[in-house]
Amino acid sequence: MVSARYLHFLRAVFYGSFIILMIAPLRAGVTYDTSKHGNPDTGVFRNPSDVRGACAQCHESHGSRDGVPNGGTFDHTLFRTDDETLCYECHTTPGAHEIYPGNLLWADSTHALSPAMYWPGPVPAERNASDAGKCVNCHDPHGADDANGVIPSMLRLREETLCYGCHDGSPSKDIKAQFARTYRHPVATTARHDATEGTSVDPARFGATPDNNRHAECADCHNTHVARADAIAPLAPEASQRIVGVARIEVLNGAAGTRPVYTWRGAGDLSLASEYQICFKCHSSWTELPAVRSDHATLTNPNNPSFHPIQAEGKNRNIAPEAFANGWTWDRLVYCSDCHGSDDPFVRGPHGSSFPSILKASYPASPAPRTMVDSDLCFSCHRYDVYANAGSANATQQASRFNGPNGRGHAFHIGEQQVPCYACHTTHGSTTRPSLIVTGRNPGITSYTQSAAGGTCTATCHGSQSYSVNYPR
Ligand code: HEC
Ligand code: HEC
Ligand code: HEC
Ligand code: HEC
Ligand code: HEC
Ligand code: HEC
Ligand code: HEC
Ligand code: HEC
Ligand code: HEC
Repeated sequence: MVSARYLHFLRAVFYGSFIILMIAPLRAGVTYDTSKHGNPDTGVFRNPSDVRGACAQCHESHGSRDGVPNGGTFDHTLFRTDDETLCYECHTTPGAHEIYPGNLLWADSTHALSPAMYWPGPVPAERNASDAGKCVNCHDPHGADDANGVIPSMLRLREETLCYGCHDGSPSKDIKAQFARTYRHPVATTARHDATEGTSVDPARFGATPDNNRHAECADCHNTHVARADAIAPLAPEASQRIVGVARIEVLNGAAGTRPVYTWRGAGDLSLASEYQICFKCHSSWTELPAVRSDHATLTNPNNPSFHPIQAEGKNRNIAPEAFANGWTWDRLVYCSDCHGSDDPFVRGPHGSSFPSILKASYPASPAPRTMVDSDLCFSCHRYDVYANAGSANATQQASRFNGPNGRGHAFHIGEQQVPCYACHTTHGSTTRPSLIVTGRNPGITSYTQSAAGGTCTATCHGSQSYSVNYPR
């Protein structure tokens, strides 16, 4: 059956100068019918003299081009120039689609502004530089489909295949290669979190149960319409402008070790965002985690006795500046992405790495004896000579609190005895002990008691031994 809107379109074609394009509409029409634009009840509607969803809402018959006389040529007999202003005609404000935040934010985004943002081809066909910044580089106003059916959000290609088209090294950084590394976020799925997630959403959609929908999409961490470089690098925990405009989880913390109260903040909530809030969508007890995964919100609760300072300043206020490397100090906050990221220092983001747990540098999650080296992850912030170099000056080694044998607890254990940090420390946070001390690893500490001026460790390597601290708690 030929619907009313095709008749309108055919009329446009008949009168217009559109003849060479007559084969394409048949193909476009099949997908168009199922697209949001083509929907007869909710689709495009601009011109009251045509029915809702009609092709003619965008393609006009000759002679009436919104006041521009026939001969004033708009490509494809469109009602106006074939650029983003055509889309603005109806998509000015976020409306129901909070993932599109409106023109003002879009206009400041890298995708709108970069002269290199035009589709390189080959499928769909390449565009040229004059198409830079147009919505149609990514969206097909007629809808599109592939082997898996209709592509959501009227995109030309599905999910990461769209992004990889440009983010494969030319014109932009090779993000595709990041996701080919051994350890990576699982983006290569056809499962999808819904872009229209509103003000509240079912956590199970991100969790291990009931249907194990565990995955990540580029769109879970990036809003293509908002992403841009930071004019000034933000301070942790504030999220980079490259990742704002996506849904996230806010926490209201209770006592040490307790699950926080969670609040979902939809993509349209543009209040100040913290990077960790985005990670908490999938790495906190807001959702149901796989058994082997930890609850990073509860672990990094600032009411815990110790934690890496992700949500708030750390508890150990006396760590000497000399115990840190690269200008780090006790009162600075760290991003999850300070540790999780590519082993390629020129590519930002926790996409993929050659190191396990998508770490920027090596840190085997194992207590097995080994010689730690300066390039290991921890030493990008904690000074190697203080913590691991048995040959460094005693005064240097004593910049750390752990006054073990001869005042040099760290350098002795790590440098001389080949005990890696992992044997004694947990990484993200401890709900029960100071200084991220962990028990139960082998080799490692079997029991630990804190005292006013130090502590006592019983270890797989030795019986009960007490230490004092080099500086006060
Ligand atoms: C929301 C507005 C909109 C609607 C509705 C619309 N089009 Fe288009 N159409 C466009 C735009 C914009 C372009 C230019 C696309 C580009 O530059 O890639 C276009 C281009 C075309 C072209 C040129 C070939 C191509 O795909 O680039 C054909 C043919 C076409 N449209 C047919 C149709 C038909 C048939 C319908 C209804 C079934 C329709 N259009 C509905 C906006 C629309
Ligand atoms: C660089 C690629 C790219 C460009 C350019 C782009 N978009 Fe998008 N757009 C996307 C992606 C990807 C999604 C889906 C996000 C998701 O799955 O969460 C999307 C989603 C949308 C949605 C919401 C769809 C839904 O399912 O709710 C709207 C509306 C939208 N875009 C409008 C626009 C407009 C208008 C422009 C131009 C001003 C534009 N987009 C430019 C990639 C792009
Ligand atoms: C004549 C008005 C009009 C124009 C022009 C228009 N749109 Fe739309 N668009 C709509 C309407 C109406 C919807 C459906 C809203 C709904 O279902 O809630 C929609 C939906 C969408 C969606 C959401 C698809 C989804 O799966 O949810 C995207 C993406 C989109 N438009 C992109 C564009 C782009 C890109 C352009 C410019 C090439 C454009 N639109 C031009 C009216 C328009
Ligand atoms: C048509 C080409 C094209 C497509 C498709 C595309 N991008 Fe981009 N993107 C670019 C260009 C060009 C830049 C800027 C160059 C650069 O900084 O590497 C960029 C920059 C970015 C940035 C960094 C912003 C900044 O200024 O640092 C992010 C994040 C990004 N894109 C994410 C995505 C995601 C996610 C997708 C898929 C939904 C996507 N892009 C699809 C071309 C594209
Ligand atoms: C939309 C969901 C989602 C978001 C958002 C997300 N992740 Fe993930 N992440 C996953 C999934 C799924 C895996 C695979 C392992 C799993 O199922 O937990 C994973 C794996 C990881 C791993 C590797 C674990 C390993 O042992 O290999 C790290 C590290 C990680 N994510 C860090 C982050 C950080 C940092 C952020 C925030 C910047 C973040 N993730 C945001 C879903 C997500
Ligand atoms: C100080 C560095 C550092 C920071 C900051 C950090 N991580 Fe990790 N993360 C690690 C290390 C090292 C490992 C692997 C060894 C281990 O688990 O202790 C790891 C492992 C993981 C894993 C895999 C194991 C698991 O628990 O599921 C995930 C997921 C993860 N981190 C997510 C995050 C998230 C989310 C944040 C921010 C809230 C974060 N990390 C902050 C260093 C860090
Ligand atoms: C991106 C910088 C950074 C990296 C990388 C890093 N740390 Fe830290 N770490 C800090 C900061 C900042 C503090 C200070 C927190 C405080 O004062 O409570 C800290 C504190 C600590 C503490 C003491 C916490 C307390 O309450 O006393 C331990 C233990 C620790 N880190 C171990 C590690 C280990 C092990 C690694 C390697 C897996 C590592 N760190 C990697 C920045 C980092
Ligand atoms: C788990 C969350 C997550 C996922 C999934 C993710 N990204 Fe990122 N991405 C980030 C973070 C975080 C940054 C760094 C932001 C900053 O500058 O601090 C980033 C940075 C980027 C950059 C800028 C790189 C640079 O060095 O300037 C691009 C481009 C980019 N991502 C594209 C993509 C594409 C394409 C995908 C999907 C194939 C994707 N991202 C998936 C979190 C993610
Ligand atoms: C043999 C066990 C052991 C190993 C191995 C170990 N630590 Fe510690 N660490 C401790 C003890 C004990 C403390 C002091 C705890 C307290 O009293 O608060 C401590 C405290 C710290 C602190 C708190 C600040 C300070 O120095 O006073 C940091 C930072 C730290 N360790 C980092 C590391 C790093 C980095 C590694 C690996 C290079 C490492 N530790 C390996 C036992 C260990």
